[in-house]
Amino acid sequence: MTTALLEVDNLSIGYRTATGINLAVDGVSFQVERGGSLGLVGESGCGKTTIGMGLMRLLASNARIVSGQALFEGEDLTTVSEKRMRQIRWRRISMIFQAAMNALNPVHRVEDQIAEAIMTHEPDLSNHAVAHRSKSLFDLVKIPESRLRDYPHQFSGGMRQRVIIAMALACNPSLIIADEPTTALDVIVQNQILGAIGTFQKEMNIGMIFISHDLAVVADVCTHIGVMHAGSLVEYGLRQEVLDCPGHPYTRMLVGSLLTLSDEPADLAGLVCPTVDNGPAMSGGCPVQTNCPNATAACLRGQADWVALSRTHRVRCKHAGEQS
Ligand SMILES: Nc1ncnc2c1ncn2[C@@H]1O[C@H](COP(=O)(O)OP(=O)(O)OP(=O)(O)O)[C@@H](O)[C@H]1O
Ligand SMILES: [Mg+2]
Repeated sequence: MTTALLEVDNLSIGYRTATGINLAVDGVSFQVERGGSLGLVGESGCGKTTIGMGLMRLLASNARIVSGQALFEGEDLTTVSEKRMRQIRWRRISMIFQAAMNALNPVHRVEDQIAEAIMTHEPDLSNHAVAHRSKSLFDLVKIPESRLRDYPHQFSGGMRQRVIIAMALACNPSLIIADEPTTALDVIVQNQILGAIGTFQKEMNIGMIFISHDLAVVADVCTHIGVMHAGSLVEYGLRQEVLDCPGHPYTRMLVGSLLTLSDEPADLAGLVCPTVDNGPAMSGGCPVQTNCPNATAACLRGQADWVALSRTHRVRCKHAGEQS
């Protein structure tokens, strides 16, 4: 019996387009533990947001969950009724949307917007309890209580993003999906927000899926890392395993680009950043094949099976284990 908070198994999601079904998420499997955090990392268009929206069941009208399941606290999110999903969404699973900080309503005080988020899902709470919850949420994301009565335009971008985080936490969810929550922010503010995220995760023992194209950011906050390419997960493991012993050529490229001041520049010769536009997922081969320096004819013939590099670290590459 599983103890994971969320267990995603072989999830595929497609978009209907003029030219047919585009499989944006292709057979993705991962787990998120209570109090654990999975960083989903991969380049633009690889399907990260689609996974988040699929789990929230907020996909665009032309999207469809093609196969797989997503067991959350024992319930399959891909098949529960919309009525049940409305009880789960925001109360049990919430999401910080990509570029959400500009989505606050400019004509309402921040305090009222947070209160509305709480009362929509917990209508029986007294005004006093709502005010108390708002204050403690502000405390958690490190905004002075005195700013609660301000309007969004009186906040900096970083503060607005913290308000969005506070709103996502308003109903004490057990899983939060944070989609690029710091991308639009400068490095200092980004660090403050990541610090705030680390705090609430510990204090609330919350599970988190942290979506980013930036491995450095994911490495800062997550216990596990999942590397995606062209709709597929190609590597998954504990943070340190993936950073120290990346098993997939694409992950090695991402890790190689993480320079610190004390590092020698990484030798990236021969590693061309693969792009989704190459469409290898549709050809049925390895999603990275066209730009992988290690690709052989075998890589054109269907995706590799998962290879276990350790009990907690797996990679999807036909040449796993061949390279150091
Ligand atoms: N409504 C839609 N209709 C058709 N295709 C879509 C739709 N939304 C997304 N896609 C396609 O699905 C794929 C995955 O998109 P998604 O937004 O999940 O990527 P992402 O990894 O979140 O990218 P980014 O890092 O840029 O946010 C892309 O090829 C995208 O063009
Ligand atoms: Mg996205």
